Amino acid sequence: ARAEKGGHKHFMAKEIAEQPTVLGEALRHYVTDDGKTLTLPDGGIDFTGIDRISMVACGTAYYACLTAKYWVEQLAGLPVDVDIASEFRYREPPIAKGTLAMFVSQSGETADTLAALRYCKDRAARIVSVVNVPESTIARESDLALPILAGPEIGVASTKAFTCQLAVLAICALEAAAQRGRLDAGGLARHLDDLMTVPGRMNAALALENDITAAALDLAETEDVLFLGRGAMFALALEGALKLKEISYIHAEGYASGELKHGPIALVDQTVPVVVCAPYDMLFDKTVSNMQEVMARGGKVLLITDARGAAEAGSDTWRTLVMPEAPDPFAPILYAVPLQLLAYHTAVAKGTDVDQPRNLAKSVTVE
Ligand code: G6P
Repeated sequence: ARAEKGGHKHFMAKEIAEQPTVLGEALRHYVTDDGKTLTLPDGGIDFTGIDRISMVACGTAYYACLTAKYWVEQLAGLPVDVDIASEFRYREPPIAKGTLAMFVSQSGETADTLAALRYCKDRAARIVSVVNVPESTIARESDLALPILAGPEIGVASTKAFTCQLAVLAICALEAAAQRGRLDAGGLARHLDDLMTVPGRMNAALALENDITAAALDLAETEDVLFLGRGAMFALALEGALKLKEISYIHAEGYASGELKHGPIALVDQTVPVVVCAPYDMLFDKTVSNMQEVMARGGKVLLITDARGAAEAGSDTWRTLVMPEAPDPFAPILYAVPLQLLAYHTAVAKGTDVDQPRNLAKSVTVE
């Protein structure tokens, strides 16, 4: 049984470890050999003839969409709505002309996502899907299906599919920015260079496994964990919390750092670890001041940052994980790795069924 898990104890561990490889392959699928331009299948997407994007998904795929909203709005200046599929389908949202509808799904079979797709199709929107299974129903019913090329994902908790979804969505954001004249050829090539460095940096992030395991042994003793981030890191904080609750059954919540003072700070004491995801970027100082509010109330902070961030933040944290530097704005792809490992090792420490957590299914094909 270990053999099919590539020598790992669980499929989830194998799938986490595979990410540098599959992410590299996914990126190379969409980037031309010279590394300077993009190539999307079947004529690609016309981002010039639209005025907004509506993204719809469930679970981890929904958090990939929330992350991509930051990229598309920042890089391409195109407004993006993100919806949970089960909410979208019954809300009767108006689909304006000029809306591109995007559906993200690992399996391509999630019932609510498929129903949302059909809702948009009935209203004549152009349908693009981002899927791991090219022969899936969602892929077949789309005008264009973009494969994420993660390979089969067996662990119920999504890992490599998430980072590959992010890679394809990053490609879409860059393509939209280039088409809409917000990035010139040099700017595009620079961002592609940056993206192509992420798989290698992921190896360095995976090498932090021992430090992460040590933190996880403590997390396994707790009942509540908060995850904080700002900007696209807020979306990643939500995904980090989801990963932890899915497989370790510890209550976890993701929050936007700036929202801490509007409620969740009331939960903070020595028993509630707070995981802060903060690469040294434009928002770093703001996130660190939120982190200090936590520490002033006796909160235990696990700071995930890079060397510059660690130097700036000082040594009052409970633990600091020093990540490789991440290219802005694509840090969430890299920072997904420590959050996955943290959830994984916490679950292993608790002895839960990591690959088949209770009450959860890999693909939810009924409502
Ligand atoms: C289930 C899985 C999640 C997944 C979600 C959406 O809840 O356990 O890991 O994110 O469905 O699945 P999809 O196949 O549409 O991405």
